[in-house]
Amino acid sequence: MKVDSVVSEPIKGQKPGTSGLRKKTRQFMERGFLENFVQSIFSATGGAKGKSYVVGGDGRFFNKQAIQIIIKMAAANGAAKLIIGQDGLLATPAASHLIRLNKTDGGLILSASHNPGGIDQDFGIKFNTPNGGPSAQRITDAIYNFTKTISQYFIVNADDIDLSKIGITHLGNMKIEIVDPVSDYKDLMETLFDFDKIKALFASGFSMQFDAMHAVTGPYAKAILEDCLGAPKGTVINGIPLPDFGNGHPDPNPVWAKPLVDFLMSEEGPDFGAASDGDGDRNMILGKGIYITPSDSLAVLAANIHLAKGYTKGISGIARSMPTSGASDRVAKALGIECYETPTGWKFFGNLLDAGKVGICGEESAGTGSDHVREKDGLWAVLLWLNILAVRKQSVAEIMQEHWSVFGRNYYSRHDYENLDTATANSLINALIEKIANLKGQEFCGLKVIAADDFSYNDPVDNSLSSNQGIRIFFEGEARVVLRLSGTGTQGATLRVYLEQYTSQDGDHSLDPQIALKAVIDATNALVKIEHYTSRKFPDVTT
Ligand code: G1P
Ligand code: ZN
Repeated sequence: MKVDSVVSEPIKGQKPGTSGLRKKTRQFMERGFLENFVQSIFSATGGAKGKSYVVGGDGRFFNKQAIQIIIKMAAANGAAKLIIGQDGLLATPAASHLIRLNKTDGGLILSASHNPGGIDQDFGIKFNTPNGGPSAQRITDAIYNFTKTISQYFIVNADDIDLSKIGITHLGNMKIEIVDPVSDYKDLMETLFDFDKIKALFASGFSMQFDAMHAVTGPYAKAILEDCLGAPKGTVINGIPLPDFGNGHPDPNPVWAKPLVDFLMSEEGPDFGAASDGDGDRNMILGKGIYITPSDSLAVLAANIHLAKGYTKGISGIARSMPTSGASDRVAKALGIECYETPTGWKFFGNLLDAGKVGICGEESAGTGSDHVREKDGLWAVLLWLNILAVRKQSVAEIMQEHWSVFGRNYYSRHDYENLDTATANSLINALIEKIANLKGQEFCGLKVIAADDFSYNDPVDNSLSSNQGIRIFFEGEARVVLRLSGTGTQGATLRVYLEQYTSQDGDHSLDPQIALKAVIDATNALVKIEHYTSRKFPDVTT
């Protein structure tokens, strides 16, 4: 087997973000681009010699070709073993589980998560470490620095490997194990949840629709919900993973999963609705006539997690990303456990989970998970909801109403301004940072600022400091706005504006969030002057 050492030019400006390297698919397909990054992953982490890795992706366009390149490069770099999902498929949480289960030296996950797929859409790659979680900053920095100085990469000259056959094969000295992407993950779920109770729930006529959005969770949801838990065939819709996600946008939110939301809001809708994203780590939860915001979902799951068999001892703490609403903080307080506020991005939860400080984590962007893996996990959240519904024997709406009557309601919404000119977006944020120190005491549209800062996080486990993680402005009357620029977009800049207004236990919990948040929205517009900077009167996406 011939190893080619190919001269490689450094590629400029390819800094991996919170979720690895994400770029346009065509850029990834340029000769040397993916290769540069894969070589940098191996070389910047001490070389691949003798190591084992999990490899898989969400099935988007270029997934299989990218895996063939990775296989040949891993062999050329002396890797001992690769574990690959059949047909190149692995949901991100399932890949995390396989890394941990097989104690590999990490994994290469191919996905651009909820971004659309296709030759003119997005592709991505990230490296997860042996704990199963996304690389910490110092590792992504090391990989990035390597991409800037790389002069060659190694690849064997060999035929493609057949990814469709489960079993063991070899490329030179490297062992390749093609595995069923679902079975180990399903076994893990069975240890965490009361499958018997969920089976009984479905047997009693409880109805559900799961929209897999033609992304990776289709086979997982069918195997678990339909084949194992007895949900009727057809419960899972759009269940076949497609390279372009059926020309859709595999982001499970009320905008991109609107047909599911409309169905749940209709008379004939089922009792429960859920969806997951491109790579299976995000979730959306709906009940008949009700959409549950991810922040509320985290709070409800934290308050009820002890009802599931894997969590009967309760949890040590709760972590949420800073822009996520404070609903889960109230649950932590009631349970007498710690709550942590971390910067945006799942990687910040890893240390807390590894140290046993928290048992559940969540983000407002539809990510929820526990210490069973080191990624957020869409189907896990859906199964936990099902487990809670099976035990409490109430509807989703009843559970949510009851929750608000105990804890109060944190009205919440995120407004996104997409594809902005990067310089404009930066100047908006910089102008705000300059103002921060003087905001306290000022009034905007009748709302007085009581505090404002540029969020920084001191990791309680490794003491690392992450600064400039978003601007927080707190108003009188338990209202808050957070502003930050997205780190995952591939086109221009995206400004995210996170709005929150708390209403106490005996307040009105039945308002439309945009109405409940009107005062904060007006105050934000007056303070930040979004229209002045962006020339946009309204956000592009409201969730
Ligand atoms: C977005 C979400 C963030 C999530 C990340 C990866 O990042 O806001 O919560 O961790 O995707 O799924 P952003 O584009 O805001 O940087
Ligand atoms: Zn995702």
